[in-house]
Amino acid sequence: MTSETEGPDGAQGAQATKAAWYSHGRIERNIGLLSVLAFIAVAIGGAVEIAPLFWIDRTIERVEGVRPYTPLELAGRDIYIREGCYTCHSQMIRPFRDEVERYGHYSLAAESMYDHPFQWGSKRTGPDLARVGNRYSDEWHVQHLVDPRSVVPESVMPTYAFLRDRDVAGPDMAAHLRALTREGVPYTQSDIDKANEDLLAQADPNSNPADLQRRYPRAQVRDFDGNPDRTTEMDALVAYLQMLGTLVDFNRVRAEELSQ
Ligand code: HEC
Repeated sequence: MTSETEGPDGAQGAQATKAAWYSHGRIERNIGLLSVLAFIAVAIGGAVEIAPLFWIDRTIERVEGVRPYTPLELAGRDIYIREGCYTCHSQMIRPFRDEVERYGHYSLAAESMYDHPFQWGSKRTGPDLARVGNRYSDEWHVQHLVDPRSVVPESVMPTYAFLRDRDVAGPDMAAHLRALTREGVPYTQSDIDKANEDLLAQADPNSNPADLQRRYPRAQVRDFDGNPDRTTEMDALVAYLQMLGTLVDFNRVRAEELSQ
């Protein structure tokens, strides 16, 4: 009897010792061992995610049409950030049916590749603005920024009428463009040399748009704020809003997606 019970007992004892060697309990009670094993697990995960980045040319798929901002658009974008428009507006359309039906094709990574910093956001007190370009007239934008409730009575958007009275020229756009080249934005030397000139030329109805549009395809050249005598912050902000989402030909992108 004794020998019968001892046999299995002994085997169970041996199994218990063996099991304890692999047990979570043992690892969790040994902080040194836990740290080493956690480090190894995280290191493997990290290596699998990070290592390929050193061997691929780029992480963002290039999309035809995406170009750096013109100096005027860039100045408008700076005003957009300065005024905190991003606290109520996102610029990223997620690939969900309700968003795509309301705003248009979902945002592509390449569309914000020259954004430093990007304006994606997730807070939407107002609508997403990623594709607002060319959706309204310049007059509508000016009227809406001067007095939002005159066009959308229930709007809670603040007024930005003062932008009409402030000249946009001031900060050296050449220095701004040069700084962005350090972040990898491909401005050429002639873009940098002509930056301050381009800033004013884009809002000047009498300027010759050919040179600007050769360097910045699809750049819209006109007086944006309804006051051709001055180039104001309103010109810059409206120029920026009117180009959002207009650089990529989405009929082509959709056709390519279908053929894949
Ligand atoms: C307090 C939140 C808030 C802030 C800040 C704000 N907006 Fe708005 N915005 C709204 C709301 C709400 C709407 C929707 C009602 C309307 O059209 O006015 C809106 C609408 C818009 C629209 C129309 C979009 C569309 O598709 O109809 C544009 C363009 C816009 N805002 C631009 C701006 C800009 C540029 C700034 C910064 C200068 C700004 N907003 C700051 C709340 C805000």
